[in-house]
Amino acid sequence: MNTTELLYQGKAKSAYLTEDPDLLVLAFRDDTSAFDGEVIEQLEAKGAINNQFNAFIMQKLGEAGIPTHFVKQLSPTEALVKRLEMIPVECVARNRAAGSLVRRLGVEEGLMLDPPLFELFLKNDALHDPMITEHHVEAFGWATRDEMDVMHRLTLEVNAVLSKLFLAADLTLVDFKLEFGRFHGEIVLGDEFSPDGCRLWDVHSGEKKDKDRFRQGLGGVLDAYREVGARLGIVFDT
Ligand code: TMP
Ligand code: ASP
Repeated sequence: MNTTELLYQGKAKSAYLTEDPDLLVLAFRDDTSAFDGEVIEQLEAKGAINNQFNAFIMQKLGEAGIPTHFVKQLSPTEALVKRLEMIPVECVARNRAAGSLVRRLGVEEGLMLDPPLFELFLKNDALHDPMITEHHVEAFGWATRDEMDVMHRLTLEVNAVLSKLFLAADLTLVDFKLEFGRFHGEIVLGDEFSPDGCRLWDVHSGEKKDKDRFRQGLGGVLDAYREVGARLGIVFDT
C-alpha cells in the first residue's frame, strides 16, 4: 500500500494517508511516553513489538465479533487500518484498582472491582485527560447517546474477551484504555491494544508486565512486553 502524506503524528504512532480514502497506514514508533507526554524516551523495538501485539489482539477481538479498524499487518512496524473519525474520549475498564483510581479514591492497589468499572476520560494532554461522564460526552456532542451506549457495551465485551485470553496466559488484565471512532456511521474500535495502554500482572507473583514498568522506572519494560507476547503465542519479527 503506497502511503502519501502524514495525516497525524501521535505520541507513539504516526498515521499516513493512502490512495484509498477509507484506509490509513499506522506506523508504530519506538517513542514511549508517560504522564501525558511529559516524559518521552525511545525504547528500541517497542514499535515492532506493539504493532505485532496489537495485530494479534485485534484479530482475536474481530473473531469475537468486536468491530475494529484493523485490516492487516503490513510490516513489522506498520498496520493497514480503516480510517475512522475519532471520538476524543478514552474508555477505560478496570477489574482491579490501580493507577489514577487508587490516587483519586485512596483505595488499595489490587482491590477487586466487581462488576468491572467503566470510566471515561477526555483525550486532552494539556488538561491531563480529565475524567468525564457519559453526560459530558452527550452534552458536548462528542458522541450521541446511542454511540456512547455502543462504546460502553463494546468496552465491557472487550474486557470479557481479553480477561479470559490473558488469564489463560497466567496474567490478570487489571485495566485498559480503548478509543473508538466512526466508520461510515458505525462505531468501531480504533487506536491500539498493547501493553502501553493496559495493566497486566502475573497471576502468581503479581509482577507488573506493562507500561507501569516505564512509568515507575522499574526497568525491563520490553522484556516484559516480549514475555507477555510469548505467553500468548506471538512470535515477534523485530
Ligand atoms: P489510569 O489508571 O492512569 O487512569 O489508566 C487506566 C488505564 O488506561 C491504564 O491501563 C493505562 C490506560 N491509559 C492510557 O493508556 N492512556 C491514557 O491516556 C490514560 C488516561 C489511560
Ligand atoms: N499515554 C499517556 C502519555 O503519554 C499516558 C500514559 O501512558 O501514562 O502520557
